[in-house]
Amino acid sequence: MSGTPASADSGAGRAGVLGWVDDRFGLDALRYAVPHHANSLAYTLGGITMGSLVLLVVTGVYLAQFYDPTQAGAHTSVVYITDTAFAGALIRSLHYWLATAFVAALVLHMIRTFATASFKAPREGIWITGIVLFLLAAGLLFSGTVLKQDQEALEALAHNDEIARLFGFAGFWFSADFTNNVSVVTRLYIAHVSILPAFVAAALAVHMLLIKRHRISPLPWGTPEQIAERERSEPSRTFTSHLDHIGMWTVVLLGLVLILAGLAPAGLGPAGVAGIEITKPPWYFLWLYPWEDWIGLAALYIIPAILVLGLLSIPFLDRSDQRDPRRRKPWMVLAAAVVAAWLALTIYGAVSVPVSHTGMGG
Ligand code: HEM
Repeated sequence: MSGTPASADSGAGRAGVLGWVDDRFGLDALRYAVPHHANSLAYTLGGITMGSLVLLVVTGVYLAQFYDPTQAGAHTSVVYITDTAFAGALIRSLHYWLATAFVAALVLHMIRTFATASFKAPREGIWITGIVLFLLAAGLLFSGTVLKQDQEALEALAHNDEIARLFGFAGFWFSADFTNNVSVVTRLYIAHVSILPAFVAAALAVHMLLIKRHRISPLPWGTPEQIAERERSEPSRTFTSHLDHIGMWTVVLLGLVLILAGLAPAGLGPAGVAGIEITKPPWYFLWLYPWEDWIGLAALYIIPAILVLGLLSIPFLDRSDQRDPRRRKPWMVLAAAVVAAWLALTIYGAVSVPVSHTGMGG
């Protein structure tokens, strides 16, 4: 089907089982036209992010069959998953590496949509729902870190308590005092497996509907006139051919994470000891760690707030009709500086001496 013009692949009059399913469930509606360049890897990164999300759900559902979401039983149940449950160690490692793949695809997808100015009118809403997804992803990563209840998880949980304290009334949900009959671990588990995924599904539905409404942005090269002309003359493909393409890349990703899971299985330390702080966060939160050294626990909301406000303001600040990254040099330099700072902070966070932050009092 790849490469077929949308009109030649309408699916009308299909015979057999596929035709029957089309007639009843209206799958034909998915064969709408998307521009030819939508199938390039750069424009499939959002689809790969989505594919990794689907695989995270599948592996997560399996893990949930053996996980005990109580403070007392959590760590023992993760040991059970790793040592005893059928294929438990493999599925847990896949879940772990899929989370890494998800973050990598998400960040690359953001960089691509920024570089190609895909946030510009009328696509601001796609960018904003993207940032909602970015925040929800951070929530999923944080709540996932806490669940294994080893030392790293216990220290993440201590940060959770500090967030509750720092946010005052607004942080009530994070506090252990919010309810005294269900532990914070159980509530973070509920957030991880139901509350946050429900919000992700809703935000993703809006993200995708807006993309369908406004179509994928044109290739950005050249003047606005050249871009408009190319957009008019570019051949189209069907969205179903794009879905095939996403499926193919998701299978490649699964192969990759299978190799990684084999080479470096997900780790698990001994049950955590409360009151000490000797570990560092997982790599995707390491860039925040030096900030905690420098300005204390308040960094946990000040720095992400600055980042999110900065990201939100992009469509309202970069408003010229230029899409070509070569014609938006100051923005590209700024983006490169942010990525370089993120890398440098991550490396510094990884090599610096571990320090206790939760005792610092923010
Ligand atoms: C769970 C996270 C996300 C998923 C699953 C997702 C999925 C997608 C998909 C499938 C597309 C179609 C084009 C493509 O595949 O590249 C897309 C487009 C887009 N996404 Fe996302 N996205 C996510 C997060 C984000 C974030 C964090 C941003 C930016 C802040 C963002 C901004 C955009 C924009 C602006 C487009 C339009 C691209 C264009 O028209 O060229 N997305 N997204």
